[in-house]
Amino acid sequence: MTTHDTSTEAPSEEQIRQMTPEEAMIAGAAIDGVHIVHHRNRFPIPGTKAEKRAERAVALSFTISALAGVAFVVYFCAGKWKWHLPGSPQTFQYYTPVLGGTLAAMMLFLGVGLVLWAKLLMPEEETIQDRHDVPSTPEDKLFAEATLVAGLEDTGLPRRGLILRTMGLAIGAVATVPLVALVGGMIKKPGTQLLHTMYKPDPDMFPDTGGMVPIVDEFWNWIGPDTLEPGGLATVFPGVRKKNQYGYDGLTDASSPTLLIRLRPGQKVKARKGQAHFGWPANNPEYLAFSKICTHAGCPASLYEQQTSRLLCPCHQSQFEVLEDAKPVFGPATRSLPKLPIKVVTDKNGAQRFVAADDFDEAIGPGFWERR
Ligand code: FES
Repeated sequence: MTTHDTSTEAPSEEQIRQMTPEEAMIAGAAIDGVHIVHHRNRFPIPGTKAEKRAERAVALSFTISALAGVAFVVYFCAGKWKWHLPGSPQTFQYYTPVLGGTLAAMMLFLGVGLVLWAKLLMPEEETIQDRHDVPSTPEDKLFAEATLVAGLEDTGLPRRGLILRTMGLAIGAVATVPLVALVGGMIKKPGTQLLHTMYKPDPDMFPDTGGMVPIVDEFWNWIGPDTLEPGGLATVFPGVRKKNQYGYDGLTDASSPTLLIRLRPGQKVKARKGQAHFGWPANNPEYLAFSKICTHAGCPASLYEQQTSRLLCPCHQSQFEVLEDAKPVFGPATRSLPKLPIKVVTDKNGAQRFVAADDFDEAIGPGFWERR
């Protein structure tokens, strides 16, 4: 342990230039009101077994951090994230926890490495500093420069290649992870998959309706105009059931939840261009169907205020005016809810039932690049 005398006179510029960085740092600190009361190099003899052990502990932490970063990137690209029908292996549920776990391990071990380095390898030092606010003199600037150089030497980095390399790996991983997370989702173009829902007509599956998809409720009941009271609303779905390889059937994606609304007597809709006939009856619609997926960020926009004829999205309070074809009138959404063209057909028992005359004629949900 060395204790430094802080009562010396300020050295001249020439004298400072003659000093080693450590001497200049200590002299500068004393003049600057920083009193080093205790300074001890933990390994005065370089290359001892204890020093190597400490160095390996730091390098091991940085290596684990780098490996966790690599694991994050690999799992981000290759991990299974898709939901499947019940009965199928639901491995998608591990996706987010694994990404979170690897990210946490990466940050944790980078931090552990830095702490171990400071605790095990950096010189032990205790300083006391007086407050002052005079402008810096040229000598002060030289002292500051010397302090930085001496600080770099104290880190031991110039002679600790292993730590330098493993820390570089860990910092590289930390820098790569946000890049992969931000850019990764944009690498593959979605193609046309976002432009279609399960309401797309299918003559093979629905020959009795000319391919038009039946509209069903959550219990898979084919619904008709008598289902809703005036001013009522129901969440409906395309009646398309698909089997998976385990024999379970149901909706295979979540793109199609729809709001079926029955207007109150006397209410009239100002339809968007080309969509005047999308409701039912086509010449004077009483029933309208809109995508339930908010065009802002994809929440279910399903709070319906009968009195004001507005649909509210609970996430960020967007409001859509139903009598103007679900045009956004408040909040962050900028695009109307897409409207589903509906018709009524007669089933084999003679009852009237709703079908989708066609798919939505625009993409549902939030905006994305290259939208048609
Ligand atoms: S998701 Fe609907 S307002 Fe934001």
